Amino acid sequence: MIEIKHVTKVYGGTKKAVDDISLNVPTGEIIGFIGPNGAGKTTTIKMITGILNPDEGEILINGKNIVKEPLAAKKEFGIVLDNADIFLRLKGIEYLKFMADMYEVDSHLRKQRIEDLAETFEMKHALNDKILSYSHGMRQKIVIMGVLISDPNVWILDEPMTGLDPQSSYQLKEKMREHARKGKTVFFSTHVLEVAEKLCDKVAIILHGRIAYFGTLDALKAQYAHCSSLEEVFLEVVNHA
Ligand SMILES: Nc1ncnc2c1ncn2[C@@H]1O[C@H](COP(=O)(O)OP(=O)(O)OP(=O)(O)O)[C@@H](O)[C@H]1O
Ligand SMILES: [Mg+2]
Repeated sequence: MIEIKHVTKVYGGTKKAVDDISLNVPTGEIIGFIGPNGAGKTTTIKMITGILNPDEGEILINGKNIVKEPLAAKKEFGIVLDNADIFLRLKGIEYLKFMADMYEVDSHLRKQRIEDLAETFEMKHALNDKILSYSHGMRQKIVIMGVLISDPNVWILDEPMTGLDPQSSYQLKEKMREHARKGKTVFFSTHVLEVAEKLCDKVAIILHGRIAYFGTLDALKAQYAHCSSLEEVFLEVVNHA
């Protein structure tokens, strides 16, 4: 569970990127985080994961305060950021072992998970190559695999499907469903409304740094019954804000 309480982030002393948002991301559900470019999604995700500190408010992950108990809080989640260009000089396999070490995954489990993940994401052939030589989608996959290798309780993903081929995107969605079914937490941002519609139990819509809607897409569509598609609903919500 992620509890976001009255969180605000100001950049450069004046620009309020996130403006007093409160949100409870429950366990056992997939929550989609949607909103236009620049609305504050990545800033919120960076605050949840301790990359940025909020100027006001607090964030708890499974009850652990990310600012006051960063190590305990960080053990609870895995994060896929929107930029997959990391550890480029490592080989894929070295990166996965590094991530397994960081999260203290024992060697038997690690071997099994590397095999399974490499199979699932069709990365077996590339594990002995440097990440530098990977395509954009392959970099995204190795980052996702690095998160899944420790099987964290709470998954936080910033536009995780970007650049993935349909097969890998399908596999990731299946894994997200399975994780939520196990009673765990999945929170991810996306611009693809069809993905949100098919995958999410609820969505949070952020506009100009504020939460404009939190609930099911069915309930939202019912509020905008005159709209013929989710895209139209979304455009109306944005335009009315
Ligand atoms: N490091 C920064 N310094 C100053 N302003 C920033 C910084 N990062 C983000 N912003 C501003 O904060 C606002 C929110 O940005 P953020 O990256 O959180 O949006 P987003 O919802 O993730 O957008 P996108 O859909 O394009 O990824 C934007 O107006 C952006 O210009
Ligand atoms: Mg972003």
